[in-house]
This record gives sequence, C-alpha cells and structure tokens, in this order.
Amino acid sequence: MTDRYAVIGNPISHSKSPLIHKMFAEQTGQDVSYEAILAPLDGFAATVERLRNEGYKGCNVTVPFKFEAFKLATELSDRAQSAQAVNTLGFENNAIRGDNTDGAGLVRDIQTNLNFSLKDRRVLLMGAGGAAYGVALPLFSTGSNLTVVNRTIDKAAQMIKAFNLRAEVFLQLYEELEFREFDVVINATSTGLSDEMPPLPPGIFASGALAYDMMYCRETPFMKFARANGAAVVSDGLGMLVEQAAKSFFLWRGVRPETAPVIATLRLP
Ligand code: ATR
Repeated sequence: MTDRYAVIGNPISHSKSPLIHKMFAEQTGQDVSYEAILAPLDGFAATVERLRNEGYKGCNVTVPFKFEAFKLATELSDRAQSAQAVNTLGFENNAIRGDNTDGAGLVRDIQTNLNFSLKDRRVLLMGAGGAAYGVALPLFSTGSNLTVVNRTIDKAAQMIKAFNLRAEVFLQLYEELEFREFDVVINATSTGLSDEMPPLPPGIFASGALAYDMMYCRETPFMKFARANGAAVVSDGLGMLVEQAAKSFFLWRGVRPETAPVIATLRLP
C-alpha cells in the first residue's frame, strides 16, 4: 500500500515540496504519495489529527506552523529542540516525532553543493526570526566563526541565549558592520518578501565571499546588492529547499535521494 505524506502550510499553493518528493520517490523506487495541504490559520492541530487518523506516515510543516508543530510533537530531536521549530513530523503508533532539517539542509547546500567549507570562516547570519532560529546552531556547529546581526538586538540576544552560545557567537547591529568583512553572508530575514534590503554596508564581502539568500526562485534585493558589491558567489535558497526535503525523506524512508538532479530540474526555466 502506498504510504502517504504531505506538507501543511498557509499559504501552500506555491510549494515545490510535492514535486521534489515525487522526484525523490521515482528516483528511489519508494512507494509514497505526497500532497500539499492548506490548513486554516487556527486549524493546524486539527489537520495533523486528521492526517494521523487517515493513516498518513508523516508530514512537512511550513510557514506559519513550525512553532505549533514544535509544541504538538510528543518527541523532539536535539536539532528541533534547539531550533524551537519543527519542519518534519513522523507519525508512529501514538508518537508524533518532531525534527528540523532546515539547518542541516542549508549547511549541506553551502558545503557540498556550493563547495564552500564553513570551518573557521567568518559567517554573518542576518535575522533572528523563525528562519534564523532554524539554522543558527547548525551553522555554528560547522566550526564557523558566527556573527548574528539583527535590527532588533534584543531578539538576536534572546536567540543566542536560547542556544547557550552567548560567549561564542558575536552579536551586532547593522550600524556596527561598517568596517567588517565576512566570508559568508546569509540572509535569513524576511526582507526578500517585501523587496527590501537589510542595511548592509557595501564593504561587507571579503574577497571570494559567498552571499546566500534563503529565499528561492527570485533575485532578491540582497542578491542584487551582493552581485554589485563584490561577492564571488551569489546563491538563492533552492538548494537548501531540496536538501532539507532530502533529509526529511531520509527520516521517513531510511533512503537518501540524490539531490543534484532534482535541483537541476527545478532550475530549468
Ligand atoms: P521569519 O520567520 O521569516 O524569520 P520573522 O520571525 O517575522 O520571520 O522575522 C523576520 C526577520 O527579518 C527578523 O529578524 C526581522 O528583524 P527584526 O527582528 O528587527 O524585526 C528581519 N527584518 C524584516 N524586515 C527587515 C528590514 N527591512 N531590515 C532588516 N531586517 C529585517
């Protein structure tokens, strides 16, 4: 019998996850289905309950339900615990297993697909909202030299405190970045959605730097800025999207799909 999975979000019609998981299933010969489900803003828990009753094996969770999924899970992985957000649920008997594959997906896209080692690199993470929480600890765990910058410094301080990294991660305001350079600059703010740009100084990119925007499928103002100001490599977050999906697929199925052909297909015009 086909095992069923889904992604739950609001909105959800733009989601590429069903296509990605369809390609993973074809490639690995796994007998699974995967659909996008729109949950009402006040109906996430009820939607999960319905899926469990109907025998689904698990689901992905996207905006704005990752924190609710974190609260709903009866078991949490360490990385979900630290992110305080869940993007992958697995349903087994009475348990709801929560995990978060976003950070590992980002790290893999940067280190493996873009071939950019993070160890000892000066990494600047912009933002301290949900997107940043998911990736901050995995980024730090690569051995990078991590700085977090946020408009509202209290939110960044809170995030670092939650990870118990206060002594090891640097905190900055944008105004303090004037004479600093970084090897990797990652945009985890929501600015791309509103066609805005975090207030970065033009000298922020070190020679050979990578500029990475976690948004995908559009050239954000940050990406344009990076191209104009000397970043050597500019990437959107499509690779991260596919890598986090591959890690969810592995959690559910115990099989690692090949991501490169899927990324290449999604990049086709
Ligand atoms: P998400 O879940 O996408 O991270 P969020 O929790 O609303 O969304 O967080 C949005 C992030 O983008 C925050 O870090 C926010 O900065 P503040 O905490 O100071 O609000 C950041 N952000 C949004 N607009 C921004 C802008 N114009 N310049 C810089 N940062 C911005």
